[in-house]
Amino acid sequence: MIISILLLLATQTLAEDYRPQFHFVPEQNWMNEPNGLIKIDSMWHLFYQHNPTANVWGNLNWGHATSTDLLHWTHQPIAITSEDGIQAFTGTSYYDSENTSGLGTSQSAPFLAWYTGYRPSNGTQDQRLAYSLDRGMTWTKFPGNPVISAAQEAPHDITGGLETRDPKVFFHEESEKWVMILAHGGQDKVTFWTSTDGKNWTWVSNLGTAQLPGLPSGITGWEVPDMFQLPIDGTDETTWVLILTPAQGSPAGGNGVFALTGSFDGEIFQADPVDTSKLWLDYGRDFDGAMSWENVPASDGRRILAAISNSYGASPPTNTWKGMLSFPRTLALQQTGAERTFVQWPVSELLSVSSPLKTIQNQTITPGQDLLSSVVGAALDIELAFTPQANTVLSLAVRKAGSQQTVIQYTQSTTTLSVDRTASGDISYDAAAGGVHSAPLQPDASGVVRIRVLVDTCSVEVFGGKGEVVISDLIFPDETADGLALQVSGGSAMLSNVVVRQVSLE
Ligand SMILES: *[C@@H]1O[C@H](CO)[C@@H](O)[C@H](O)[C@H]1NC(C)=O
Ligand SMILES: *[C@@H]1O[C@H](CO)[C@@H](O)[C@H](O)[C@H]1NC(C)=O
Ligand SMILES: *[C@@H]1O[C@H](CO)[C@@H](O)[C@H](O)[C@H]1NC(C)=O
Ligand SMILES: *[C@@H]1O[C@H](CO)[C@@H](O)[C@H](O)[C@H]1NC(C)=O
Repeated sequence: MIISILLLLATQTLAEDYRPQFHFVPEQNWMNEPNGLIKIDSMWHLFYQHNPTANVWGNLNWGHATSTDLLHWTHQPIAITSEDGIQAFTGTSYYDSENTSGLGTSQSAPFLAWYTGYRPSNGTQDQRLAYSLDRGMTWTKFPGNPVISAAQEAPHDITGGLETRDPKVFFHEESEKWVMILAHGGQDKVTFWTSTDGKNWTWVSNLGTAQLPGLPSGITGWEVPDMFQLPIDGTDETTWVLILTPAQGSPAGGNGVFALTGSFDGEIFQADPVDTSKLWLDYGRDFDGAMSWENVPASDGRRILAAISNSYGASPPTNTWKGMLSFPRTLALQQTGAERTFVQWPVSELLSVSSPLKTIQNQTITPGQDLLSSVVGAALDIELAFTPQANTVLSLAVRKAGSQQTVIQYTQSTTTLSVDRTASGDISYDAAAGGVHSAPLQPDASGVVRIRVLVDTCSVEVFGGKGEVVISDLIFPDETADGLALQVSGGSAMLSNVVVRQVSLE
């Protein structure tokens, strides 16, 4: 009897294990960044770096999950396996609609995936191809692999092909060629390659710090390139966007994601002058290896990004899984005068599984008041729109019980949005696990500050304004810490709109 109760308790604890409610995590074991994101028919495919046999980095395969709404994910068998001493590292996929690879059947053109093959035995990294003839469900390795050998990489890589990885591949319509962008580990550069068939590749150009004179120093170790054309809102123009994850130099320290705009002729990416105030897609600690879904139909038209939320390797205090996908967010580009700003926003599908718990409209909050003390929840979508008086500091505490809390704060005097996770729960697992992360955020033209906060069990993702700044952080609070508090100090604030929604996929 006692044994069975203990077993039940152990099972329950493991089942909970900080497992988020509306974010993707593997059923078991290790995950890092997303791979090969692609929409096929009504199905969003998520592939990801996955160790299916242990809860640590290693033995990497492409894990696979599918969803029709970016919310409910179905786990699928491994898509690209670690096999014959070659692991399947990060890469991307694309629809070969013209069957340029010749890998299609008589009935249908193939879907292609390029990934890095890693041999732990001697450390080489080469580039490989796999194809799917059943609309992304299963993948076959191309018999002619590798498509770029370590020897072919060597003249363009100071490590001779030991640090060449993460192929981003797309078909460039104007030049009628495939384009591959490869990261070169610690070398702060990417290389561009082209091909007519997706199999036989030729080096065409380098892009490094020498080509980006305005890039601040210290942004080093570039990885996981993504590149695509993005419409400029309110115009009929598009621009090219190149996204990278450096290992060092992000605003919150460690790795992060930056984005550049520029032009591209099929061989050379000519970056626009770097605007350091618009460089970073996230100001938190936990948004890395960002990648976007390809093949999204024009009728939808969204460019949707997801990244891995975990900057601490195997350290976070979860036992049955490690590594969470960020909540999918749209990426758009807005132009005001000559200034272009990336804006990101949680995909609207979220509203279909959310219901209001509390709404406040047109009410002034003054120091000493606490307007959300009656609301609880660990999976929430919170919107705030308010006009702060001079010197007001507005604080929203989430996952709160006693002194434990994660505090999202807006400081009027410095126009700063911040996330303070110093008292958020377990921060003992890594030296960087606590801390305060902040981003500049101006009120809109009518003086209103807007903040949207997604809270899900072990994370907060905080979107400022229309999404011009985002702060994403992991937190590991006690399960019972589910309270909220909305307070001001230093002055009052007119709350034009506060909505707390509960998110539930049940
Ligand atoms: C794709 O190319 C292969 C090889 O040439 C051919 O056998 C197949 O029929 C082609 N499929 C389509 C849909 O064009
Ligand atoms: C790495 O090992 C593979 C398989 O044994 C071999 O073909 C390749 O030449 C090796 N490369 C280097 C640089 O040692
Ligand atoms: C690969 O492409 C290059 C450059 O286009 C070409 O010279 C070469 O013949 C091709 N090799 C094969 C095996 O198709
Ligand atoms: C709040 O104020 C706005 C703007 O004055 C008004 O349109 C809205 O109806 C008000 N809402 C409530 C619930 O009073």
